Amino acid sequence: MAFTPRQYPAVRMRRMRYDSFSRRLMRETTLTVDDLIYPMFVLPGNEKAQKIDSMPGIERVNVEDLLREAEELVGLGIPAIALFPVIPAAGKSENAAEAYNPEGLVPTAVRALKSRFPELGVITDVALDPYTTHGQDGLINDKGYVLNDATVEVLVKQGLTHAEAGADVVAPSDMMDGRIGELRGALEKQSYINTRILAYSAKYASAYYGPFRDAVGSAANLGKSDKYSYQMDPGNSDEAMQEIALDLAEGADMVMVKPGMPYLDIVRRAKSEFQVPTFVYQVSGEYAMHMAAAQQGWLNETAVMMESLTCIKRAGSDGILTYFAKKAAQHLKQT
Ligand code: PBG
Repeated sequence: MAFTPRQYPAVRMRRMRYDSFSRRLMRETTLTVDDLIYPMFVLPGNEKAQKIDSMPGIERVNVEDLLREAEELVGLGIPAIALFPVIPAAGKSENAAEAYNPEGLVPTAVRALKSRFPELGVITDVALDPYTTHGQDGLINDKGYVLNDATVEVLVKQGLTHAEAGADVVAPSDMMDGRIGELRGALEKQSYINTRILAYSAKYASAYYGPFRDAVGSAANLGKSDKYSYQMDPGNSDEAMQEIALDLAEGADMVMVKPGMPYLDIVRRAKSEFQVPTFVYQVSGEYAMHMAAAQQGWLNETAVMMESLTCIKRAGSDGILTYFAKKAAQHLKQT
């Protein structure tokens, strides 16, 4: 039977919007706590928690405080957290050797978390920027160019160290070519067959990472250099599809688009073309923008938080890494 389009006044779109109950019934996308991943900044030793000026409400915490926070996150029902280490100058070098130290900060934090909260998913970042003196995600030559294959070798060692410590998910955020395949091969060989790989597949060279670089302290190391030779040009979309296809072929279980809000067309396209678990990183700059406006009284913090996350999900994201994860989970619990 052919569908005959009906017209006003038979059609009044506002009828379904009239009551809360019918708005609820027709709602296509609802954010739940199952959609949330909380990125956290970890300090070594017993350093006291530190505020991050450009990320109000977010702190760098030591492992003991991390465990305390994790207990709260588990209580809220947050499925997973993503760890980002704050590495002091003494841990940084040209060859990023600290990145694969089995007694390093990340493996230590992972072991502590997994022994206390085995049900909480732990995601680790595979990239060298916290560990290099120059702040690049990989090893560089004398011209400052990030070397692909030499970097991949180190990334594989780093990823294996994380898996050995008990990380459930390793997440390469470095954008080197071929790293997913090499890492997957190494994990299989070492019998870490259930370690999941979340590939930062479509990671753009974005100015929205600024507050994150403040948080992990890599901004000063990076100085005036940029990441254009490995992260993607914001003007591109086909290239993102190719990156995703390659990462999937190499053995990624999940793919990611990053940042979120200015890149939701990429998310929709990725979901339509690949139908695989697709994640979005609502990055530090997005968080900072929302918080800055909220602090000025220009935006309603809770409302824009929930709207931004719901819209990321509507675009096709299965899960969202967001600094709002805890606040959103608290809000969802109350309502
Ligand atoms: C580094 C990394 C970055 C982020 C996650 N992992 C920054 C960068 O690539 O310079 C950014 C996250 C955020 O801005 O919240 N490999």
